[in-house]
Amino acid sequence: MAEIKSNAASVEFKNVTKIYGKSKVPAVNDISLFIEAGKLVTLLGPSGCGKTTTLRMIAGLELATAGQILIGGADVTRLPATDRDVSMVFQSYALFPHMTVRENVEYGLKFSGFDKKDTVDKAKAGLELVGLAGFGDRLPSELSGGQQQRVAVARALVLEPQVLLFDEPLSNLDAKLRRHVREEIREIQQKLGLTVVYVTHDQEEALAVSDRIIVMNNAVIAQDGTPRDLYDAPSNAFVADFIGEANIFDCEVSDVKKDVAMVEIGAISLKLPARGHRPGKAKLAVRPSRIDIRKAGAARTVPGTLEKVTYVGSHLEFIVDTEFGTVFAVSPDVDAPFEPGQAVGVGFAERGPVLITG
Ligand SMILES: Nc1ncnc2c1ncn2[C@@H]1O[C@H](COP(=O)(O)OP(=O)(O)O)[C@@H](O)[C@H]1O
Ligand SMILES: [Mg+2]
Repeated sequence: MAEIKSNAASVEFKNVTKIYGKSKVPAVNDISLFIEAGKLVTLLGPSGCGKTTTLRMIAGLELATAGQILIGGADVTRLPATDRDVSMVFQSYALFPHMTVRENVEYGLKFSGFDKKDTVDKAKAGLELVGLAGFGDRLPSELSGGQQQRVAVARALVLEPQVLLFDEPLSNLDAKLRRHVREEIREIQQKLGLTVVYVTHDQEEALAVSDRIIVMNNAVIAQDGTPRDLYDAPSNAFVADFIGEANIFDCEVSDVKKDVAMVEIGAISLKLPARGHRPGKAKLAVRPSRIDIRKAGAARTVPGTLEKVTYVGSHLEFIVDTEFGTVFAVSPDVDAPFEPGQAVGVGFAERGPVLITG
């Protein structure tokens, strides 16, 4: 029985820029990145930020205007798509409607020089991997959306590409199925040790499936890190806001010693990782769950007035007016005795606030 192998290879961009036709603004502007072999890395960002363009440059479907692209250490910058060992799964599945599921999966194998037996065996193994072993004789139209996307995944997998690309693969599926299919993709990727570059605009999906996330904004990389890095230590306001919710406060860095900054916000002094900041005005990002609502006048708090308290089942949500602006906080303590209009103290949990750049 044939098996699906992994030919996982790394992907590297060195100062890559893409400018379409006569456009004045780059779709991708001087980005550098490295994706290790065998990892699932997500390009995450709002619509129009350059995710698809980046993916298509890996595939060779677009050529870089400037810079260098390497796959498995080899320079592929000028190689056309047909000469690159990369497969792509699209949002629209792009199955051949008049071919059976099996024929769809065999199609690419036939043209990649596999003999009849290997083609049949590999297609069978591919359909098994995505849980569609019994569906080979059906037409795509006889399958659900989720099943069709799994056929598209099998079709890409069986080619054993160095890199497997996914462009918003779950967009056409309903919410429940989306979770299921994304877990399946992650499982297969880990099982086979594939290099996957995955594009989405959905931060929850990105956090759930990725070894690493590259956040893009306006054609550049806003931050590159593990899901935990990005959530716990966003380096700028865009990432803090795009991944989860964040309160952004003005503060003052009063002193920096080695990598530790003394940060003043109202009467509170915090010792925080400096992250390259120097003394002067700065900004802090704090997750709503890392803000403590305490009694008015409590030590190490800034004063505020509770504007709103909302019970949402699993937690309470607070909106608090402070001299630093409106603060959004959540607490799992649903029995906390707080009422709108009440004076409170707003404090920060340990490892809550992080210094960011504007
Ligand atoms: N074929 C094209 N010709 C001209 N401009 C394009 C083309 N494809 C994308 N763009 C532009 O490049 C920018 C990035 O697009 P894209 O990479 O598709 O972003 P994303 O996938 O993040 O939504 C957008 O401003 C978009 O309008
Ligand atoms: Mg896109």
